[in-house]
Amino acid sequence: MISLNFKELMKKVEECSTAYIEGVVSKVIGLTIEVEGIKAFVGEVCKIYNEKNVAVECEVVGFRENNIILMPLGELIGIAPGCKVVPTGKPLTVKCSEELFGRVLDGLGKPLDDKVLGEGNYYKLDSDPPDPLKRRRIKNVMSTGVRAIDGFLTCGEGQRIGIFAGSGVGKSTTLGMIAREAQADVNVIALIGERGREVLDFIEKDLGEEGMKKSIIVCATSDRPALVRLKGAFTATAIAEYFRDQGKKVILMMDSVTRFAMAQREIGLAIGEPPATKGYTPSVFAMLPRLMERSGMSDRGSITAFYTVLVDGDDFNEPIADAVRGILDGHIVLSRDLAAKNHYPAIDTLKSISRLMSEIADDDHKQAASAARDLLATYNDSEDLINLGAYVRGSNKKIDIALHYHDYIINYLRQGINEKSNFEESRNKLVQMFS
Ligand SMILES: Nc1ncnc2c1ncn2[C@@H]1O[C@H](COP(=O)(O)OP(=O)(O)OP(=O)(O)O)[C@@H](O)[C@H]1O
Ligand SMILES: [Mg+2]
Repeated sequence: MISLNFKELMKKVEECSTAYIEGVVSKVIGLTIEVEGIKAFVGEVCKIYNEKNVAVECEVVGFRENNIILMPLGELIGIAPGCKVVPTGKPLTVKCSEELFGRVLDGLGKPLDDKVLGEGNYYKLDSDPPDPLKRRRIKNVMSTGVRAIDGFLTCGEGQRIGIFAGSGVGKSTTLGMIAREAQADVNVIALIGERGREVLDFIEKDLGEEGMKKSIIVCATSDRPALVRLKGAFTATAIAEYFRDQGKKVILMMDSVTRFAMAQREIGLAIGEPPATKGYTPSVFAMLPRLMERSGMSDRGSITAFYTVLVDGDDFNEPIADAVRGILDGHIVLSRDLAAKNHYPAIDTLKSISRLMSEIADDDHKQAASAARDLLATYNDSEDLINLGAYVRGSNKKIDIALHYHDYIINYLRQGINEKSNFEESRNKLVQMFS
């Protein structure tokens, strides 16, 4: 016989957390939905049942008086005042497993092919960056297969780098080259806010079959709701974290972080945040480090990350570019002038920097890279004179040397899209140039 202690039972009842389990839609304003009658936390997923009783997933993004504000993760079709809202008590997660290799996922991590995913580990989209004291130091070089980067802007395994460029200067092509040639176990590639046409283009042209085999693509194109575009970046980061926890060497690529910032701006403005610099709301600048601090080294594996930044009107000091440069460990600048001269990849080595190169490259390599930069800078300073024919050989020793080496350096920096290379080769070639 079970004996019940009434007092204890009452205590348990009092301790129980109570929550309303069903609310109703009261208002829809622009992108937001106000709901009465439920309690939920920011980031919690709720389901709205539309008039045909089909569930539309939404996320809690804020509160207004006693109501919660939701944003849809799908299409807002058939939502009307009075529709039933049920909180799930859970934040968004993504199912991770080896089965993801070679697959294309939507912004919330669901495969876009028809095959369902089997067993997997659920990773939260929003999680904390690794403990700063437990992060291993960056010591090993990450070979990217792009000569200009390996030679002049050597990247370390676990480094986070920004690729800054105006539109159509070669960001996606450069990412594709790195994805194919870099020595990583897995590439997680987030295509955020791209035009729909570009996704297949990137997969077939830039990545190719070879690159796709060890890649996982998360894509949230520009037509998807702002919240899905934002989540796409977090989904890719969570998948990269899963593989890092398995001890893998992961490369995470995000094209582009500007569109991620724009999605957060859209959300911020919709829930009533004040616009600040260039219409970007304060939460955008809070969100950027929260996203980008999650990559890098952990105590188990590494995420080497490349974030592209689309600089509007080639203004490299616009607010997002500025904020991203401050967070990352290096930036690669692609120049329209170089692209116009058919100099590809259009990496402006003098304006780019890898903050870790001095720690991970050997002395001979550093000396050679520094000498080549000096020569390029000297040449650029006198380029107008040289082109005009106004410079007479022999009048300045430094310019003479720069002229002598210029073609060698430019040939070194230029690389065809399908031309293979690796770090050792690039380092040796650069050192030999000056020996
Ligand atoms: N390494 C390269 N070698 C030869 N051509 C290149 C190279 N990189 C880029 N290009 C040329 O530049 C064009 C644009 O490149 P890409 O699509 O990579 O630019 P993007 O910066 O990603 O553009 P968007 O801003 O539209 O996303 C390509 O179609 C190609 O013709
Ligand atoms: Mg592109």
